[in-house]
Amino acid sequence: MKITVIGAGNVGATCANVIAHNGLAKQVVLLDIVEGMAEGKSLDMWQSSPVNMFDTRIIGVTNDYEATKGSGVIVITSGIPRKPGMSRDDLIGTNARIIKEVTGKAIEQSPDAIILMVANPLDVMCYCAYLTAKKDSNKVFGMAGILDTARFRAFLADALDTSPRDIQTLLLGGHGDTMVPLPRYTSVSGIPVTELLDKETIDKIVDRTRMGGGEIVKLMGTSAWYAPGAAVEQMVESIVFDQKRILPVCTYLNGEYGIKDIYLGVPVKLGKNGIEEIIEVDLNEDEKALLNKSAEAVKSVMKVLDDMNLF
Ligand code: LAC
Repeated sequence: MKITVIGAGNVGATCANVIAHNGLAKQVVLLDIVEGMAEGKSLDMWQSSPVNMFDTRIIGVTNDYEATKGSGVIVITSGIPRKPGMSRDDLIGTNARIIKEVTGKAIEQSPDAIILMVANPLDVMCYCAYLTAKKDSNKVFGMAGILDTARFRAFLADALDTSPRDIQTLLLGGHGDTMVPLPRYTSVSGIPVTELLDKETIDKIVDRTRMGGGEIVKLMGTSAWYAPGAAVEQMVESIVFDQKRILPVCTYLNGEYGIKDIYLGVPVKLGKNGIEEIIEVDLNEDEKALLNKSAEAVKSVMKVLDDMNLF
């Protein structure tokens, strides 16, 4: 399979690197608008192959969409990242136009591809790609939930002084400060986390998870890329090997969870056809209220997209 990654910034380059490193494709095409950037980074990654023992060819191109022809998966990381003091939603004016343009050009070359969105504001950029690609929504979705649950799991591992590997959790909602980590669906090797940590500690970790992206932006002046790249890799792996993993994914909802016509993070089964099933879990009244609040936050950004009259 050929996999295209659009945008050779920190996130895009990391995605291309981990996809190649893990041998998920025969060829990875990395595309950027900055002359020479994708070519240079791709050459550097390819030169790591003899040491890291992979054979995926990584090809960098400047704006050459023809080189992406026939891709099975297109990962879109284009657009500007946040600076300190910005919310993800502040990026919409710039990123919506970019996402419309790159999605259109990429899908023209690979009409059957699955589109995996990574640009922010994530939930609305997924919608933007969906409107542009005019494909079934099971083939257009976004990465956020794996990153957000990974942060939740990493913070829990710190608090428990344990391996993050044994921590399983679930998180719903938009990729913003109103996201909904669910302690009630969180366990450590099957042991409910509520038996291992007190409520106050869990509440603090939930809050830190919600603000996890912003914490990094404040430290570095730009947004994260290692954990986002790892999360994209996990989704691509589940697609190309048809693993049918159940993962939190930014998905088009058509009545599931009582929510309609927006993209939002929910657990899905991910396989070679993209989203093969949306899984609805039982929520108590508090959890439902939090999810609805998160949906409202996404809808307010959708309104900004509508007002741009791009579609
Ligand atoms: C984050 C950005 C990439 O959460 O949305 O780190």
